[in-house]
Amino acid sequence: MPGAAPAAAHLDSYRATWRNKAALRAVYGDYYRRMVKQLNPGPTLELGAGSGQLREHLKGAVLTDIQTAPWLDAAADAQALPFRTACFENIVMLDVLHHVENPPQFFAEAARVLRPGGRMVMLEPAITPLSALFYRYLHPEPVDMGQDPFASPAASPERGPYDANQAIPTLLFRRQRARFEHHFPDFRLLLVRNLSLFVYPLSGGYRRWSLVPAFLVRPLLCAEDGLLVLLGPVMAFRLFVLLERR
Ligand SMILES: C[S@@+](CC[C@H](N)C(=O)[O-])C[C@H]1O[C@@H](n2cnc3c(N)ncnc32)[C@H](O)[C@@H]1O
Repeated sequence: MPGAAPAAAHLDSYRATWRNKAALRAVYGDYYRRMVKQLNPGPTLELGAGSGQLREHLKGAVLTDIQTAPWLDAAADAQALPFRTACFENIVMLDVLHHVENPPQFFAEAARVLRPGGRMVMLEPAITPLSALFYRYLHPEPVDMGQDPFASPAASPERGPYDANQAIPTLLFRRQRARFEHHFPDFRLLLVRNLSLFVYPLSGGYRRWSLVPAFLVRPLLCAEDGLLVLLGPVMAFRLFVLLERR
């Protein structure tokens, strides 16, 4: 099991990009608002909080990451959470599940720390025919549709906090949903939705460039919402997932 890694310079540079890039704040602000809307009232844990931007949208959330940083409340590996059983009402994760080495171990831990009826909301890469081209050829993280996401691999001492397989969420919640429900009966899948057509990739995310001016992000996201039912299955870049602890 990987322990907490030391503070990384990446997190400081992500915070600087957040401060300097209005289009990034507009796109991710929309993500955080959608996630917060789904939460129950009560104590909320964020895993893989990285540069810590959830705090702008949800005061009082407990922000954690496997890396340490001064703005985080604790170092916590999602696969071995340093919290009491049933002490959280919600778990929030933005782009974290696909970095977790051992998904079964993570889901067992998440089920343990959530109260019955508690919620877990995640936003992750979606692998669709068009997004797959972008994620495979223009994104540094791998896409391995052949991995068994229900296997429990032995912990690798070389693994870093950004090692990933972007296919994991799509495999768990779309391609092998029936297996998910069989393997993790503690969770009910309340919502699995496509999100993000063109605005997110054009914004460049945490890269310094953006092809969309910040003032156009909101109106374009409204237009996207109207197109998601039609175009989502072919080109959505994001998967929005809401689970409930039984
Ligand atoms: C792509 S970043 C996302 C950061 C942040 N949520 C955001 O959207 O800006 C993935 C984060 O997950 C963290 N992470 C990776 N493996 C983890 C694990 N096993 N437990 C907790 N956090 C982990 C990394 O350190 C990193 O901060």
